[in-house]
Amino acid sequence: MYQYAVEEANAAVKLDEAGRYRQAINKYQRAAEILIQFVKYNKNPMMIRKCQDQIEQYVTRAQALKAHLSGPRARRSSPAVSPSEPKGEGGEEGAVSSEEQELMDSISGTILTESPNVKWKDIAGLKDCKQAVREAIVLPIMKPQLFTGARKPWSGILLFGPPGCGKTLLAKAAATECKATFFSVSSADLLSKWLGESEKLISSLFKVARLKAPSLIFMDEIDSVTTTRGSGHEGGGERRVKTQLLQEIQGVKSTHDKPLLVLGATNRPWDIDIAMLSRFEKKVYVPLPDQPARAGIFKIHTAGVNSALKDEDFIELAVRSDGYSGRDISNVCREVIMIPVRELDMGGLLEDPDKEVIVRDINLKDFLKTIKKIKPMTTGSVLKRYQDWAEEFGEF
Ligand SMILES: Nc1ncnc2c1ncn2[C@@H]1O[C@H](COP(=O)(O)OP(=O)(O)OP(=O)(O)O)[C@@H](O)[C@H]1O
Ligand SMILES: [Mg+2]
Repeated sequence: MYQYAVEEANAAVKLDEAGRYRQAINKYQRAAEILIQFVKYNKNPMMIRKCQDQIEQYVTRAQALKAHLSGPRARRSSPAVSPSEPKGEGGEEGAVSSEEQELMDSISGTILTESPNVKWKDIAGLKDCKQAVREAIVLPIMKPQLFTGARKPWSGILLFGPPGCGKTLLAKAAATECKATFFSVSSADLLSKWLGESEKLISSLFKVARLKAPSLIFMDEIDSVTTTRGSGHEGGGERRVKTQLLQEIQGVKSTHDKPLLVLGATNRPWDIDIAMLSRFEKKVYVPLPDQPARAGIFKIHTAGVNSALKDEDFIELAVRSDGYSGRDISNVCREVIMIPVRELDMGGLLEDPDKEVIVRDINLKDFLKTIKKIKPMTTGSVLKRYQDWAEEFGEF
């Protein structure tokens, strides 16, 4: 870990010397962050002292660079990011773009902004969920003109359900289809930020999202930021982050012209505190796959592999995998796909790199054997808990 911090710091210094200050700031912060984590687990007082000195150095340098960048000279000289997109009042363009760039940089370490590439057809079953996500996310972003007057989009949407059933997939498919700027935040990452950086990060995130609207902010594992107040040990910092997040999500409501939507996902909905829960106006239950969906998932996850399976075999597999999640099935498939390769390898047939090998088809027997070994993750009693929660708070 220490070594890693040193590498980041060295990179920071190089960037700093090359005048690439924004990237340098990120690297300095990253190095400091790592050291802060490192110090937590280190018991050697000399080492702790040394690290603390380094942390201070990095933070000071990062702050100095930030101050430099936000100075008047830096603003004027920095090129406008996209001159074709006028923003703000006349004369302000340069300043806004420079600020925008700075904000973008500040969130780039923790928040992914590139678009995923998941198509609806990659997701088996979940017809109702797909429709709900289309109505709540895709349409408001693609056709905002439909959502005027009383027909307002829901500002917050929560996907909940057992692990491995397609929540993250649905979010990605929605983002792929609507071509909005997609921000993907792991809520656990938000919390692990140091020294009040979480708060800055959150506020930058929503600012950038507003600038780049239409935007979709996807907050995965939302339960980890917002566990029920008072339960467990929460520091003052965590509470502040929560409160701020609540405010930001609340604030989203007031922007009508260009849609900005918040999509949360969780497999522990009962842990979300009521204040946060109420911000998510629409709650969509993503259940375990039903039988036809399971057949579809087996097909998707064996696509492109030589297979002796017929349609009726997929139906048999679906019947035999009752209670399995999409992820369980995908694990079964990965295991099965390896069986023919493993057989060849154990027979010593893969040793000669030039020798052509013929890999046999996967068959029903391989699957039945593997299903016996890989058991479903979600048990009956937990499932009941989801269903009860869905009945109380959800839609499906
Ligand atoms: N309906 C489905 N169709 C095809 N593949 C699926 C489906 N559901 C789940 N999978 C497979 O399971 C994996 C996990 O799904 P995903 O990440 O969407 O689960 P999740 O609901 O977000 O789980 P978690 O609550 O653990 O985050 C996917 O990457 C995919 O391979
Ligand atoms: Mg997920």
